[in-house]
Amino acid sequence: MNDNLHPEQSSELPGAQWALDDSGAFNHWRQTKIAAATRQNTLEFINIADLANPTLAERQLILTRCNIDGYAFYQSSQPETEPAIAAALRQFTNSFGLKIAETHRSMGDHGVVALRVSKNEHQRGFIPYSRKAMNWHTDGYYNAPNDTIRSFVLHCAQPAGTGGQNQIIDPEIAYMRLRDLNPDYIAALMMPDAMTIPANTEADGSVRPASIGPVFMVENGALIMRYTARTRSIEWSQKAAPAAAALQNILETESEFLIQTTLKSGQGVLSNNTLHNRTGFDQGSDPSQRLMYRIRFHNRIPGGQNG
Ligand SMILES: [Fe+2]
Repeated sequence: MNDNLHPEQSSELPGAQWALDDSGAFNHWRQTKIAAATRQNTLEFINIADLANPTLAERQLILTRCNIDGYAFYQSSQPETEPAIAAALRQFTNSFGLKIAETHRSMGDHGVVALRVSKNEHQRGFIPYSRKAMNWHTDGYYNAPNDTIRSFVLHCAQPAGTGGQNQIIDPEIAYMRLRDLNPDYIAALMMPDAMTIPANTEADGSVRPASIGPVFMVENGALIMRYTARTRSIEWSQKAAPAAAALQNILETESEFLIQTTLKSGQGVLSNNTLHNRTGFDQGSDPSQRLMYRIRFHNRIPGGQNG
């Protein structure tokens, strides 16, 4: 394992690799990233004996993976009953100092959102609560700038009969591929008007204002990504449109650093709001429902990726 991704072990300033005029810092970072990043088929799940009470050693393993990849997969023994799983998950994320993000319309106890097929009026029609596939995105891409999502946990309480596979790509890998292709694409996606999600009237009549902002941001030396591959109800600036097309192509063709996994009960991923998608799923003859718990946070995982 290569530890050169720790900024304190490098002579370069934290975040120097994101400056488009510093190809030396970028190339140095690129080398260490490629050497250390998790590749397809090398994904390991970190064992957490008790989800609600991770040990110091278990937490350090998670932080190390988050520092390198921006995500960490874990598997745990979880409580058997539903509200207890949510409470344990919240204790797990509390141990990393993560702070609950926006008040979500579907937020239950402990700030945890239960993702399952739903016919509730406020969830009907939303893809997360259906069996449908979900396209590449980072969470909260439609949020206002002061509601930026910087990390999330996704925890499987009950898998689907078939399908429901997640794919993940580290936003830093997507950035690297795009910058390798053409640094102008990065510049275009860092413009403050790059991506607009138009205002929307919610089912309850409330209006979510338009969300206008960049795709890539650098904050305290860390790369933050705000992205959706959706094609409806989205506007790209003239300069950003070709870059967005190139980025989408990168996500669809990445193989080396693409993670594909169908989470089992007790397994989950903690991440600095990594790029992810989901295949559609079916319950088959299984009467139990696919159930995933999700919590979104305002802050990043401590020490992760120069953050
Ligand atoms: Fe998501």
